[in-house]
Amino acid sequence: MKMETVSDKPVGVFDSGMGGLTVAHAIKQILPNEKIIYFGDTAHLPYGDKSKESIIHYSSEITRFLLQNNCKVVLMACNSASAVAFDEVNKELGQEVIILNVIDPVVKYLEKFYSHGKIGIIGTKATINSGTYGSRIKKVCPDLDVVSMAAPLFVPMIEEGFIFDDISNAIIRSYMSKPLLKDINALILGCTHYPIIKNQINKYFDFEVDIIDSAKIVALELKALLSEKKLLNQGVSVDYEFYVSDFTDNFEKIAQMFFEGSVNLHKSDLWR
Ligand code: DGL
Repeated sequence: MKMETVSDKPVGVFDSGMGGLTVAHAIKQILPNEKIIYFGDTAHLPYGDKSKESIIHYSSEITRFLLQNNCKVVLMACNSASAVAFDEVNKELGQEVIILNVIDPVVKYLEKFYSHGKIGIIGTKATINSGTYGSRIKKVCPDLDVVSMAAPLFVPMIEEGFIFDDISNAIIRSYMSKPLLKDINALILGCTHYPIIKNQINKYFDFEVDIIDSAKIVALELKALLSEKKLLNQGVSVDYEFYVSDFTDNFEKIAQMFFEGSVNLHKSDLWR
């Protein structure tokens, strides 16, 4: 029997709910040989309204869980966690496992493709109030005009399945028409839930604003990192496992949409 090597181990991905599935899906497409263990902390959703201390606590426990489940890398597929908990969790557990966030790859992308103009960022209250995007972008693109706005209704709206209807259209219109976002050249979807409504946001702007979603950018960054560290999985026995801390109606449905067919969903008792 072949011995398991580090590269055979799964990639751990977590979010407060289904948002990180947009990133996990991009990983599946860009890195089809990688096994994925996904954790949706549905019991604590939304993270965007929680304190920094709580988000650090949840993120640290979930990272430990993924580490115990043998993950070679842990990806915080959550902007709120990436914005307020990454440094702390990385300091605590970064010696034991490679930890990635979803903000740095997007900042790197901006540095490459946007030197001037007006960029909007939308995200949860935790992400926007942390100022993490703004300060990191300013360091590498000092001439960019960066504006940011919290859109706290989007996460519960998406988690509840309001995606293509009058309610979601009205909420999207209400946020996107804010004067702050006037004349933007690009809009960063600074929450991993938002790519689920990317088409509707694109439509609101008549497809004239670049809508930057982190899923593909992050998956490509992960590929580069795994390749650099010689950790790319060469095997073929792909396996996807999903854990939630509380069952919700829509999680399984959306997971099935992204991962086609039957989804191996477990309820984790991490918080007992
Ligand atoms: N999808 C997450 C993010 O990127 C979390 C949203 C929330 O739980 O508030 O911020």
